[in-house]
Amino acid sequence: MEKITKILTETVSAAFESAGYSPSLGAVSVSDRTDLCQFQCNGALSGAKLYHKAPMLIAGDVVAILSNNPAFSLAKAVPPGFINLSLTDEFLAGIVNEISADPCLGVPQVEKPETVVIDYGGPNVAKALHIGHLRSAIIGESLKRTARATGRKVFGDVHFGDWGTPYGLTIAEYKVRHPDWPCFREDFDPEKDVIPEIDEAEMNEIYPCASLKSKSDEEFKLISRQTVVDLQNRKKGVYDLWKKIKDVSVKSVRRIYEKLGVDFDVWYGESDSDCYTPELINILTEKGLLHESEGAQVVDVAEEGDKISVPPILVKKSDGSSIYATFDLATIIQRERDFKPDRIWYLTDKRQSLHFMQVFRCAKKAGLVPPETELRHLGFGAMTGPDGKPFKTRDGGVMPLETLIDTVESAAMDKLKDSEYITSDKEGAARKIGIAALKFADLSNQPTKDYIFDPDKFLSFDGKTGTYLLYTVTRINSILKKAGIGYDDVLEYKKISSEGERGLALLIALSGESYERAFEDMNPAALCDSAYGIASAFSRFYHDNRILTEEDAEKRLNWLGLCSVTRRVLVKLLDCLGIEAVENM
Ligand code: ARG
Repeated sequence: MEKITKILTETVSAAFESAGYSPSLGAVSVSDRTDLCQFQCNGALSGAKLYHKAPMLIAGDVVAILSNNPAFSLAKAVPPGFINLSLTDEFLAGIVNEISADPCLGVPQVEKPETVVIDYGGPNVAKALHIGHLRSAIIGESLKRTARATGRKVFGDVHFGDWGTPYGLTIAEYKVRHPDWPCFREDFDPEKDVIPEIDEAEMNEIYPCASLKSKSDEEFKLISRQTVVDLQNRKKGVYDLWKKIKDVSVKSVRRIYEKLGVDFDVWYGESDSDCYTPELINILTEKGLLHESEGAQVVDVAEEGDKISVPPILVKKSDGSSIYATFDLATIIQRERDFKPDRIWYLTDKRQSLHFMQVFRCAKKAGLVPPETELRHLGFGAMTGPDGKPFKTRDGGVMPLETLIDTVESAAMDKLKDSEYITSDKEGAARKIGIAALKFADLSNQPTKDYIFDPDKFLSFDGKTGTYLLYTVTRINSILKKAGIGYDDVLEYKKISSEGERGLALLIALSGESYERAFEDMNPAALCDSAYGIASAFSRFYHDNRILTEEDAEKRLNWLGLCSVTRRVLVKLLDCLGIEAVENM
C-alpha cells in the first residue's frame, strides 16, 4: 500500500496541474493544526513566486477542483495561502479497511529492495555486557525489524570485540594468576594438553583488574602488548586459551541478548576480519594512502573545511599488530564480499563518532565500497542515573547489563504481584513487561540524547510507557475473545460513526508513514509516537462506546472490525520496537 500522504499528494498535484500550475507544488503533509484539518498543502505559497500571483488566488483555483473530489470533506484555502484538507469518513474508513486486508498492514514497501548491514552488538570477549551495550542492542534491534517490515534485506551483525588490545591484557593476567596452565608452556600441544575450564565470574573480573594494573605496571603492560602480537599471530597456547575464553563469553552474551529479545543474523567478530587485513594493507599501499608515522602505519583522512581536527587513522601499530580501526576497515571488505550492502550502519555511543568518521573516510578513499554505499554511524547518548551521570551500581561500578535487566524485571514483578489476571507464569509475564518498559522508554527518547533510568516511571500504567501499550493490547484481546474473534481474523470496517472513531481511524491510516521515517532518521521514536497515539485514541473510543453490549448488530461488528485492525497495527508497531505483546495483565 502507498503512504496516505503520497496518495493525497498525487491527488492534489493533479489538481494543481489541472488548474494550470506545476504539479510539483502539490506535496501534502499531516496538518500542524489538527483542530482545523487533518492534512495541509503549502504549495500555493511557493507557487506565488513562480507565477507572480497571490497565493490565495492559486490556493482558491486548486480548492475549486478538489471540492469536487469525494475523498475530501474539507478543502479550503486559508490565508495566506494554505490549503486545508480533511477526508470524508467514507474515504478514511476505506483506507483503514485496506490496511486491515493488506498483508503488510499498510506499511509501505520499498520500491528497490536494498540490503542493509546493521552492526549493533559490539560485546567484548571476556568482558561482561554492560549498560553501554544496552542502547545499541535496543535501537539496533528495532531498526533491523523496521527495515525488514519495509521490505529490505537486513543482516544484523554482532561484531564481537575479540582481537584487540584488551585480549593481550586479559591473557597476560591469566598467566599471572595461573602460571601453571599448560597453555603458557612453550611446548604446549593442543592435541594433548588440556586447558582448565574457564570460570565465568573470574573471567569477568580479570579484564578490569588487568586494565588497572597496566596503568601503573610498565612490565605488565609490555607483556600484554607482546601477548596481543602473539594472539594475532595465532601462537599456540595463547590462541587456544583465547578460543576457550571466547566460547564462554559467547555463551554468556547470547544468554543476555536472549533475555533482552535481541538477536543477530551474523555472529562474526573482529577476529573473523583478520584474513582480510593483508588485502586491506595491499589496497591502502597500492593506492599510496598508507604512510609511516612514528613507526606506525597511518592513512590521512582530514578534509578541507573540517571544523574539528581529524587525525590520521592508525591501521598498524609499530609492533605490527592490528587495532580497532584495522578490524573495522577489514570488516568492511568482508561485508562487501559477503553481502554487497547498500548501507552499513553502526550503532555505538556517541563518543565513538570520530573513530567512525575516520573509518568511513578511509574506506571511501580506498574504494573498499562503491561510492554510493551508505556508511552511517548513529552515536547515541547515555542512560543515566537521576543525577544525570552514567548509571552506576551502588558501589559506583559499571552496571552489568544482566543486573539492570533483573532490576527491571523484579520491579515489574512487584507490580504484578497482586494481579488477578495473570494466573500462570507470572515470572514470564514480568520479564516481558519489564523488557517492554525498558525498551519503550529507551526508544521513545531521541537516540542522540541522554535519558534517566527510572523503572517506576517506565512501568507506569499511565502515560507514554511500554506498560500502557501492552495494557491497551490486553484490553483489545479481552474484547475480541469475548466476541469470539480470532486475533488474526480480518474483519471489515465500513463506517465511522463518532468523533473518537475518526481520530483512531486517522492514526491507523497514518501508522504506515512512521516506519520509513523511523528507518531514514535512525530513530524508532516515530514508531513509539504512532503506537502511543493509537493506544490513546483507542482508549477514548473504548470509553465512549459499549462495544460488546451494543444492540445494533451491524454497528457492533463494525466496531469489532476497528478493534481487530487496531490490535494488529499496534502489535506490528510493538514488534518493530522489539516488544512482545502479552495476553493479560
Ligand atoms: N566492541 C566495541 C565496544 O565495546 C563496539 C563495537 C562497535 N562496532 C564496530 N564495528 N566498531 O566499544
